[in-house]
Amino acid sequence: MKTILTGDRPTGRLHLGHYFGSLENRVKMQYDYDTYILIADVQALTDNFNNPKKVRDNVREVALDYLAAGIDPKQAHIYIQSLIPETSELTVYFSNLVSVPRLFRNPTTKFEVAQKRELFGNEGESITYGFLGYPVSQAADIAGVNANIVPVGEDQLPHLEQAREIIRKFNNIYGQTFNLPEAVLSKTPRIKGLDGNEKMSKSLNNCIYLADTPEEITKKVMSAVTDPNKIRKDDPANPNVCMVYYYHQLIKSPNVEEVCSECKKGERGCVYCKKELARNIIEFLKPIQERRKYYENNPEEVEKILKEGTEATKKKAEEVMKRVRENMKLDYFE
Ligand code: TRP
Ligand code: SF4
Repeated sequence: MKTILTGDRPTGRLHLGHYFGSLENRVKMQYDYDTYILIADVQALTDNFNNPKKVRDNVREVALDYLAAGIDPKQAHIYIQSLIPETSELTVYFSNLVSVPRLFRNPTTKFEVAQKRELFGNEGESITYGFLGYPVSQAADIAGVNANIVPVGEDQLPHLEQAREIIRKFNNIYGQTFNLPEAVLSKTPRIKGLDGNEKMSKSLNNCIYLADTPEEITKKVMSAVTDPNKIRKDDPANPNVCMVYYYHQLIKSPNVEEVCSECKKGERGCVYCKKELARNIIEFLKPIQERRKYYENNPEEVEKILKEGTEATKKKAEEVMKRVRENMKLDYFE
């Protein structure tokens, strides 16, 4: 069985963008692969080192969202990154195999560097060693469980490319140790926001969270961007430029074809259409939220799942590191 590694930084609750961009796919894949899902608290700290409580609280939220979305703890190991010190050790060994200019050339890093410069000025003081090394630690996460497959969103592809370079180099120098991991890009890597933005993202404030209440969902949907040329209720419009229609398709509203044809013919009002979408999203999230409630009410069960997932991962990482130390001639007292 091949091994999969994916995960998220615990910096906030998960939303529909995560669900359709990755969670749905992970739920399907967990049955066919040895699946590891990391809650990347160490990585979250690169940007939130001065806010440990935020990271700590969101470890729990993300775990709840995983379980709510249908990650089955019998199928997948959900684990906490910081509790696998083996990957920190591997990060150190890997850090010799990548140059600093190469790290700066990583497109995702480049983009984030530009963002930081804009926010904090041009001094580069906000570009820490930890931040720059983030793709190195990601390579260590992947190699630490000897993953074959890493399902990722588009923004993570450069990190995967970098991980492959590091792992290839390691295998060349120290002998074949790791699988060369492959990125699998999600079919719907980027979910648009109801506001028409290209991306649903916390920083854009356009998210529908898996845990949103019916009232919150309705409020968000009612403010969605529709075809701007439709002024009156019975104007014909173009559903393909309308975010409400986009979401009807995304969540597979049962009458999605009707929505399209009625909209084109001017037989559908936007207020009605939005109310229907809100109801459908609420319905869609119902089983997810019921599972979430169950786990919220049974925190000791969540703790046990995280503990067992972490222990299983640690066992795997220990095996991998034993091989690493042998191949690097660091197995002094073995
Ligand atoms: N960087 C990823 C994100 O922000 C999280 C992550 C950390 C990850 N380590 C990983 C993803 C290893 C895949 C494999 O979403
Ligand atoms: Fe969008 Fe529905 Fe209005 Fe058509 S009727 S523009 S699909 S909200």
